[in-house]
Order: sequence, then C-alpha cells, then structure tokens
Amino acid sequence: MVEPIVIDVITIFPQMLKGFLEESMMKRASNKNIVRFNMVDLRTCTDDVHRTTDDRPYGGGPGMVMKPEPIFKAVESVAGEKARVILMTPQGRRFDQAYARELSQEKHLVFVCGHYEGVDERVCEKLVTDEVSIGDYVLTNGVVAAAVVIDSVVRLLPGVLGAEDGAAEESFSEGLLEFPQYTRPSEFRGMKVPGILSSGNHAEIAKWRSDQALDRTRKRRPDLIEKHKLDAGERPAKVLIRKKKKKE
Ligand code: ADE
Repeated sequence: MVEPIVIDVITIFPQMLKGFLEESMMKRASNKNIVRFNMVDLRTCTDDVHRTTDDRPYGGGPGMVMKPEPIFKAVESVAGEKARVILMTPQGRRFDQAYARELSQEKHLVFVCGHYEGVDERVCEKLVTDEVSIGDYVLTNGVVAAAVVIDSVVRLLPGVLGAEDGAAEESFSEGLLEFPQYTRPSEFRGMKVPGILSSGNHAEIAKWRSDQALDRTRKRRPDLIEKHKLDAGERPAKVLIRKKKKKE
C-alpha cells in the first residue's frame, strides 16, 4: 500500500482550515488515506502563560512580528529531514500549476502560516525550504493561502479526482486556458450550444476545442501564450532579438 502524503499546517487559527479539510475532495482524499492532514495550533508551542506568538518589531514600526521560538518548536515537532517546510508569505515564489505538480511529488509538506506583519527572518533563514506567495495581494493571514496551495496539490494526487486523468487535461497543465464547456439543455434562453459538439466527429471536436483554448488564451492571458511557445520549444522572435541585442 502507498503511504499517504503527510500535510501539517502550523497556524494560530486551526479552526479556519478545519471546515475546508472536512468537505468535498479534501475529505475524500483523507478518507481514502491518500493524504493525512495534521493541524498544529501554534499557541500550544509557547512557553508563557499568555501563549504569546508575536511581538513588536526590532527597529520600530507598525504591527507585530511572529516570534521564532514557537515556530521552531512547532516545525521541529513534526518535520524530519526530508519535509518541505513552506512559509506562506506575499514575499514568496509565485505559486502556479508547475509548482503544485512539484509539491504533489513530495511525501511530507509542512505549512507555516504567517500572520500580522510577517515572521522573524530567522525562521526563513534556518527552517523554511520554500517561501510561497499565491499572488500579488496581501491577506490577513496565511491560512487562506495555505488552503489554496493544499487544494491544488491534493487534487493532483492519484485517486483523488474521479477520472484519473481529469487533472492532467485541464487548463495550465497544457499552459493554456480551458476551452468553453456546455451541458444540457442544447438551447437555453435563445443561446445554442455550438453544433460541432453534437456532431459526433471527435477529431473535429478536438480541433474546435484546441482553437478555442488558443483563442481564449490569446485574448485573456497573452502572457501565457509566450510561455506556451517557449515550453514547446518555439522561441518567439522577440526573445531571440532581445538576446542578440544584449550580446552586442
Ligand atoms: N499571506 C498574506 N498574503 C499572502 C499571499 N498573497 N500569499 C501567501 N501568503 C500570504
């Protein structure tokens, strides 16, 4: 039997994540023993009566900084040598589908959820293997960001999604946005489903979908088109020209 991937989440708000992990796909994944979730309440890793997890920043300034001692204690209580210790922070590497795929290959992930103005830098220096951002905006706490990352990683684990290959075919796996989808009825409030989709001609349907995906991506996310070309080995002329100029 395959060992489940272990996902520990260190936070002062374990209740925030509980509902999310106990519903839908996350619940299914843990019920099937594909993943084992473990919440660590950071306050249980403090030594003082007030269960202090934060303090004022050295050098002054607004807000509070998360203290290193409880975080070190929490991580060391769950993580062995091989764990990826992931700090959720807007300063981190931008999360994307490739990153999700990378993390889905691991056996043990430990999420450290930051709050307030951030965490003591010594945590980043000594404890953390990955600093991850889910986008260029600031959340009140890292639990929400950790939920996003956990969801996208867990759905990639074999056996979680109904159709085994469902995850592989979707947007971003191919580097493009998804083609439009329709279901019954074939006509709704005067809007008709494109006839090609009921034609039964699988080759034509595949071509239509691929054209639609490309067209949609060009219009909505031209940045992905550039990346897609690079991944496919078709280096756009623009990049070559830029490189040449640099050398001269
Ligand atoms: N914590 C607060 N904002 C965040 C973000 N954008 N990504 C990851 N963690 C965060």
